Amino acid sequence: MRVKAEKWTSRGEKWPTEGEKGSSLPGMRVAAAEELFPRLGGSRGFRESFEKSRRELAADYIDYIFTTSSALHAVSLPLAAFMLALCRATEPSSVADLGSGFSSHVLRVYAGEAAHPVRVASVDDSPSWLEKTEEFVERLGHSPDGVVSWADFKQTGAGAFDIVLYDLGTMDTRARELETVLAGAKQGALVVVDDVHYAAYRRIVEERASERHFVAYDLEELTRDEYGRFSWLLTRSDTEEETSVPASAALRSPRTKAVNSVS
Ligand SMILES: C[S@@+](CC[C@H](N)C(=O)[O-])C[C@H]1O[C@@H](n2cnc3c(N)ncnc32)[C@H](O)[C@@H]1O
Repeated sequence: MRVKAEKWTSRGEKWPTEGEKGSSLPGMRVAAAEELFPRLGGSRGFRESFEKSRRELAADYIDYIFTTSSALHAVSLPLAAFMLALCRATEPSSVADLGSGFSSHVLRVYAGEAAHPVRVASVDDSPSWLEKTEEFVERLGHSPDGVVSWADFKQTGAGAFDIVLYDLGTMDTRARELETVLAGAKQGALVVVDDVHYAAYRRIVEERASERHFVAYDLEELTRDEYGRFSWLLTRSDTEEETSVPASAALRSPRTKAVNSVS
């Protein structure tokens, strides 16, 4: 029997990419990225910031995929640029990349330029990739502080972060641990979930997001790469009812949220 290459991940797991987009789950709405932009400085401003971020990151990205990892395993350059532009637009005080690597550099670029202190956590379930991440971020002049194992991160709780990139381990691990990440996410947190081009994984993301009353934004237009990978952004609705109202109404800026939550 002929099996199409795209049915398999680089680790040999069976995760088909085929499948309809658009949720049929009750209360679950997948909004277009355009609905997100008004909260990120407007469509034009955000797209300019995205392109600027992409140009700024390009040289270090090439370095990373040739010296440390590979383009297939690393976050895509478009998603890296999206994360930097997202941080610049929302000014979070705490950011986490679950699945360390080039993204760990991206979050530290933001932390280094932010006008306020930013807590960064770079997390992996692979000790060897934690070591490679430490070496890479140090080589690019960052502190390796905040590079932690997934086991330790789970103990201390994922809930304390304003922005989370979920790109951890194998797809099997990803599907299994998503519940931990969404259950722990604080109100207003923005959770970017990569690799939703795998239809079966996308379905799991929809189910977990629906159960936890998250709204999804489809970032395919901005983050789709040469392997067909793309991402969604999830954010928790204020109330159960809000999952069926326009998704933009449910989005809160991390910075706004952080300021508002100080009593
Ligand atoms: C998609 S990768 C994470 C990529 C990361 N966010 C980045 O920006 O480079 C998912 C997992 O694969 C592992 N990994 C990273 N690079 C790898 C490589 N070149 N080969 C095999 N596994 C890798 C790590 O354990 C990581 O948690």
